[in-house]
Amino acid sequence: MSAGSIHERVHMKKNIVLIGFMGVGKGSTARKLAEMTGMYAVDCDDLIESLANMRIRKIFEVHGEEWFRKLERRTAKWLEDSVKETIISTGGGFYKVANLRKIGKIVYLHAEFDAIYERLTASDNAARKIEKRPLLKDIDKARRLHTERVPLYRRVADVEIDVMGSSQGEIAEQICRALMIKKKRADT
Ligand code: S3P
Repeated sequence: MSAGSIHERVHMKKNIVLIGFMGVGKGSTARKLAEMTGMYAVDCDDLIESLANMRIRKIFEVHGEEWFRKLERRTAKWLEDSVKETIISTGGGFYKVANLRKIGKIVYLHAEFDAIYERLTASDNAARKIEKRPLLKDIDKARRLHTERVPLYRRVADVEIDVMGSSQGEIAEQICRALMIKKKRADT
């Protein structure tokens, strides 16, 4: 086998499902992990937006949250049936789908609410990041949602990673270690 052949990459056989609160960095962690492992990454909210041909914010506005949750459940079924060896970043409420554990290994990315909110508001496109998340508009409600969800995320997770103070690279490294995934060779 030649050096750098795709067959030398040791992938995770199962999918890796990243769960956690809005703005914790599931999408960027998924992409870092993809770069590190040679696996592909997909994002549930992107899949839903393409399915509905509508932005998440618009889906909430026009059809309401329950309709969005239905699309999450439909997407979860499709992921279970059709996607393998992939890193899947999810929306903050996706952890509720009944078949979550059948989709893959579940990694919960944890951060305290204030840290998440500070990071979001300090970013260049803060207004857009908040605007696109209907459940983040009311900060008190969002804080309550975070408090309510943390134990629920923990209940479904196989692995928990505290992301506070770590770079995307460090977080991705920790996930590789926890799930015993070998990183791809530098030249592949
Ligand atoms: C939601 C989180 C959002 C998106 C939707 C609902 C939630 O995704 O799915 O606005 O219920 O927490 P992010 O976690 O990527 O922001």
